[in-house]
Amino acid sequence: MLAQACFALALIAAPAPADTEAPLPDPLVKLDGRRVADRDEWVKVRRPELKRLFEERMYGKAPDAPDNLKAAVIRVDREYLGGKATLKEVSISYGPAGTPPIGMLLIIPNHRKGPAPAFVGLNFAGNHCAVADPKVALPTTWMPASSPGVKDNRATEAGRGKQVDTWPVETIIDRGYALATAYCGDIAPDHPGHADGVHPHYPGHDWGTVAAWAWGLSRMADALALDPDVDSSKLAVVGHSRLGKAALVAGAFDPRFAAVIPHQAGCGGTAPSRGTVGESVKRINTVFPHWFNDAFKTYNDDPSRLPFDQNALAALVAPRPLLFSNAVEDTWANPEGQFRVLKAAEPAYALMGAGGLNAASMPEVNHLVDSTLGYVIRPGKHSMSPPDWVFFLDFADRNLGKPGAAR
Ligand code: GCU
Repeated sequence: MLAQACFALALIAAPAPADTEAPLPDPLVKLDGRRVADRDEWVKVRRPELKRLFEERMYGKAPDAPDNLKAAVIRVDREYLGGKATLKEVSISYGPAGTPPIGMLLIIPNHRKGPAPAFVGLNFAGNHCAVADPKVALPTTWMPASSPGVKDNRATEAGRGKQVDTWPVETIIDRGYALATAYCGDIAPDHPGHADGVHPHYPGHDWGTVAAWAWGLSRMADALALDPDVDSSKLAVVGHSRLGKAALVAGAFDPRFAAVIPHQAGCGGTAPSRGTVGESVKRINTVFPHWFNDAFKTYNDDPSRLPFDQNALAALVAPRPLLFSNAVEDTWANPEGQFRVLKAAEPAYALMGAGGLNAASMPEVNHLVDSTLGYVIRPGKHSMSPPDWVFFLDFADRNLGKPGAAR
């Protein structure tokens, strides 16, 4: 009896497992070891320093914004979704002669009080996969053989509508938001070598594919700013996985994105480089050598030498809303580590008077923490699907204001 009681007590009193993960560097501590004193110093000194460090040591430095960008509307369907929406196909051209254009699909709700807030995100397999519309143009650029309907690394009709679950357009429209999406390969095809896409047109830049995608998202923001039907002060940049890494970089580097939603973005995005769960810096640099710059590979064996971790990239988004969204079975993307990353971005949000992450520990599954720094984890696997969009939409409503409603 006594032995049993002791055993029960031992069970209750068992110490919590030690947190063996390395602490993440404080984003407010400058390279010279001193702590940022106030907002002014954050904005004028530390923020630019961090941006430069991420460019130098990880993503590479993208070119300046082009001064010759044009957005040509090549097709309009004002009766899309039974008249609920207008669909536009926009060709975004920019840069030195020969730079491939970005084919942007833009779908805008027709029933609205003013310009619509918009989600902006890159897709993996072409605009024609994202919607079932038989008229949407096929990308002509290189595409991985694994994408739906691809033959000889080119899109075919067989891919049409094959990724409609990733982009639940009607739900987005019904909630009052527009959606702008483009094929990531229009900017930089996802293969090593940087021989096509934007890279050869901007020689002398050691920038990886993730930086190029992020820069492309900014070109979409340029184009959206020219469209009177879109409220370009309310752009929420979104992306899944490698394209979530790009969404976070775009949001961190380009303050025009009013909300930032990297979904299951993992290593090189929302997960800590110092983390020991899921994908490592060495693995990502080995399997995807083109995603980051050469300097990042020098941290393969000891990421703790990095002068930052991904919480500092999250901190660059401050004071704007930022949601990390995850799935229980997607341990490769280290959902727990991502929670720690958000927590460790809080000092910058606090300094900016922007609130933080209203949760002391990981929330229950399917519970959206919708504070300025937001977090959610749902059951299931690595994918972007309609239930994820309900969280994205709720987070946007909460943090940007419901479309059409006074805040
Ligand atoms: C791989 C890669 C991840 C990436 C993912 C994806 O799993 O290791 O870093 O996020 O592909 O883009 O789906």
